[in-house]
Amino acid sequence: MSLAPLARIPKAELHLHIEGTLEPELAFELAARNGITLPYADTEALRTAYLFADLQSFLDLYYGLMAVLITEDDFEALADAYLARAAEQGVRHAEIFFDPQAHMARGVSMGTVVEGLSRALARSEERHGVTTKLILCFLRDQSAESAMETLEAAKPYLDRIVGVGLDSAEVGNPASTFREVYEAAGALGLRKVAHAGEEGDPSYVWEALDILGVERVDHGLRSLEDPELVARLVRDRIPLTLCPLSNVRLRAIDVLEDHPLVKMMDAGLVCTVNSDDPAYFGGYVGDTFHAVHEALALDHERLRTLARNSFVASFLDGSAEEEAL
Ligand code: ADE
Ligand code: ZN
Repeated sequence: MSLAPLARIPKAELHLHIEGTLEPELAFELAARNGITLPYADTEALRTAYLFADLQSFLDLYYGLMAVLITEDDFEALADAYLARAAEQGVRHAEIFFDPQAHMARGVSMGTVVEGLSRALARSEERHGVTTKLILCFLRDQSAESAMETLEAAKPYLDRIVGVGLDSAEVGNPASTFREVYEAAGALGLRKVAHAGEEGDPSYVWEALDILGVERVDHGLRSLEDPELVARLVRDRIPLTLCPLSNVRLRAIDVLEDHPLVKMMDAGLVCTVNSDDPAYFGGYVGDTFHAVHEALALDHERLRTLARNSFVASFLDGSAEEEAL
């Protein structure tokens, strides 16, 4: 089914894990190519497993399926497939997360990951009309030492990486653990974002702001629970990269109709809408715009605001941002 024009409004995608775009068909293709047997009979059986109880149950499957990503060609194919889908969904600019520790733990080097992704990204503007940036995420359920080693391994590739992020299991893994690695990343000129307030309470968002010095909060879903936090986010115009379909699939909220997006916009927060892990959560970012339009009765003006916010909150420089708007 083709997407309504409204959902194809030009936009930037700012919260997208490239590994979360691994569709079952590509997973099986790469498994065959690499001689890997997946613990699922076929794509349908794999899709049937996409019934998640929470973030951790998703992460277990997500990290497991990454086993099929081995060569530069695999990472190139993954990114190319995403960029083609993104273009169809109105994406003009994508800031793409990747999880190097999840690959390096399997013996796949930082170079393989970055070089493979870079091949697809380098021709994305010409091929798909989508400009791109890459954000290296540290896994917060791994140690601070491992994060620092990962930053070290990324040093030869910093011309390809705009910033650092923090993802994986949130509760029990506070941002403060990663203070030093964020300081080191900042000293290297990298931009800073972090997942916070997805399942964790507002204290996780405070730490991301005050200890890591993030410029953007990934999710921030639970921010409304703390009026002082809302005031701070509004005052400093810190954008939130919300992912409504993810929040439903990972059971942070029961149904999309309960999503606080409209309340957050009304509170003056700089909200953006993104897809997170679209191969797993039932939709890419245009589908997400469509879904919130229907479920939350978001009118065209609000959708335009979300699209405008996505460029303003991006790491595009002023002139590129203006061109896009
Ligand atoms: N890694 C991939 N998707 C994620 C999410 N929604 N939260 C935390 N880590 C993730
Ligand atoms: Zn995410």
